[in-house]
Order: sequence, then C-alpha cells, then structure tokens
Amino acid sequence: MNEKVAIKAYLSQCAELIEASLRKSLPGEWDVPARLREAMLYSLEAGGKRLRPALVLTAAEAVSGEANSSTTALPVACAVEFIHTYSLVHDDLPAMDNDDYRRGKLTNHKVFGEAMAILAGDALLTHAFHLIPQAAREGGVSAETALAIVEDLAKLAGAPGMVGGQVADMLGEQGITSIGELEYIHLHKTSDLIAFSVTAGGRIGGATQKQLDLLALYGRNIGLAFQIQDDILDLIGDEQKLGKKTNSDVAQNKVTYPFLIGIEESKAQVERLTQEAKSAILEAELSSPDRLLEIADYLVGRDH
Ligand code: IPE
Ligand code: IPE
Ligand code: MG
Ligand code: MG
Ligand code: MG
Repeated sequence: MNEKVAIKAYLSQCAELIEASLRKSLPGEWDVPARLREAMLYSLEAGGKRLRPALVLTAAEAVSGEANSSTTALPVACAVEFIHTYSLVHDDLPAMDNDDYRRGKLTNHKVFGEAMAILAGDALLTHAFHLIPQAAREGGVSAETALAIVEDLAKLAGAPGMVGGQVADMLGEQGITSIGELEYIHLHKTSDLIAFSVTAGGRIGGATQKQLDLLALYGRNIGLAFQIQDDILDLIGDEQKLGKKTNSDVAQNKVTYPFLIGIEESKAQVERLTQEAKSAILEAELSSPDRLLEIADYLVGRDH
C-alpha cells in the first residue's frame, strides 16, 4: 500500500469508530422532542470526513505512542464533531451562506425549517459540553485534563474563536481587501477548531506544554491550508464529491484566497503551510508522529 492509500484507509477506520460512538452520544432515554432528535441526528449522521475527531484520536496516539489512547479520547472526538456539525447547520442558514446542500443531502433547514435548524444547532453545541466530562467519568482522562479541554473548547469555538471568525467572514463580505484580514477569518472560523482537536488529543496523550504549543501550530497551519483548499474547491471542485454546491462563495460575494491571490498562488500557499505544519510535528518529538505527518500531506491533494 502506498502512503496515500494507507492514510485513507486509516481515516475511514477512524470515521467508523467515531460514527459508532456518535450514534450512542445522545442518550436514548433522555426525553427529547422526537423532531429535535431527528433534526440533530439528520446532520450528525449525514457523513462528512470526520477530520476533526480523527485528529483528536490521532494526536492522542501520536503523543502517548499507545493505541488505546484513541478509545479514551472518543468522547472528546465526538464533542468536536457535535460542535463542527452545529457550525455547518448554522453556516448554511439563509441568514448566513444560504446553501441548499450539505454532505450530499438537503441542508437541515430545507428539511426541518429554519427554526428547528437553529434549535438543532443549539442542542448540538450544548451537548458537546456534556460529552467532555464523560471522558473523565469513564476513566482514562483526569478531571484536570477534562477541565483544560472544556476551557480550550469554550474559547476556540466561541467569540474569540470560531464564532468570531464566522462573524468576521460575514462582516467582510465584499469589503475585505487585505490578506491579513482574510487570514484572521480563516484562522478563527476554521483553524481554531482544528487546533483544538489536535491539542485536546495531545492533552489526553499526556503532552508537555512545548508539545502542546507545537501541536497547536500544526493545527493552525493545516487548518489554514484546509480552508484555502475549501475555497479552491468552491471554485473548481466537483459538487458530487463535495456533497455541496460549488460557487457558494461567489454567490455570497465572499473574499477568498483564490479571489485575492489567484488559484495557483493559493495552491502554493497550501503547500507552504503544510510544510510548516510538518516541521512543527517533527520538532515536537512525539512518540509516533507519522500519522499526523501523513494527514497533513493527504489534505493537500483532497478533492472533497
Ligand atoms: C467544512 O468542513 C467547513 C469548513 C470549515 C471548510 P469539512 O470539509 O470538514 O466538512 P465535512 O465535515 O467533511 O462535511
Ligand atoms: C465554514 O466555512 C466555516 C464554519 C462552518 C465554521 P465555509 O462557509 O467556507 O464552509 P462551507 O464551504 O459552507 O462548507
Ligand atoms: Mg460560511
Ligand atoms: Mg458555507
Ligand atoms: Mg467554503
């Protein structure tokens, strides 16, 4: 097996593990309005690459060098997918990007209506903060580590993080002129949750502060590269593979990397950021760094 095939197989193995765990994440015995549960599961189980939770599992193993770290990390991996899924449900709303397709299916509001989509997003977000303490309750993660992870998530998914990035993205439509402003948007709307995933895994695996800083740098750089690639695919991607419509950014007058610096320079930027991400991992001297390095490379050529 060449490296690309092997990492693809590894990522789909992670996705299977995560999906089995996601299905059990919202307790069946909780008295939840049936339509709300349905709307939450509709988006949660629609597929998706499961990149962020896979990064939690992979970083935990990379730091500890032990395969059982990924089982310990599963509740936190699910939590980040709950947050990510809520962010997509809200991102697609008519008041935001106004998109009709996501993960190969109609968007949540197209099926359940806007009010239910907003509330399903709220419930997905809130449930993430129920899941993280489970990592400590089930053993394997100390209460102190769970506390640090909750604190990181509240910050990186919140006002100074993903939500702030989404606001800057919205306010910036048509108006942004500098690459610095665009970098701010990408760093917060996308990199912050990816950096969270990698550092949360690192915390579970027992990383030192220096390793956490380098894992965060890796997350920052692959996150930025990931969003630039998302912008490229919005222009030249295949709708079938992406599971969402292309030219959404054009329709919303978004200023993107390809818009500002062109497709070729955007691709070169993705390459540069990937190399920087890999250097950070090499410097961190992790027990088993290979998969994190391979994921960085794999994302460069992704077509969905
Ligand atoms: C889409 O994320 C939103 C961005 C931050 C670019 P993904 O491309 O990871 O979407 P899924 O989870 O695979 O559907
Ligand atoms: C979405 O960015 C970022 C978040 C949901 C936080 P985009 O708006 O570019 O993502 P897509 O292209 O709709 O997946
Ligand atoms: Mg958007
Ligand atoms: Mg969007
Ligand atoms: Mg996009």
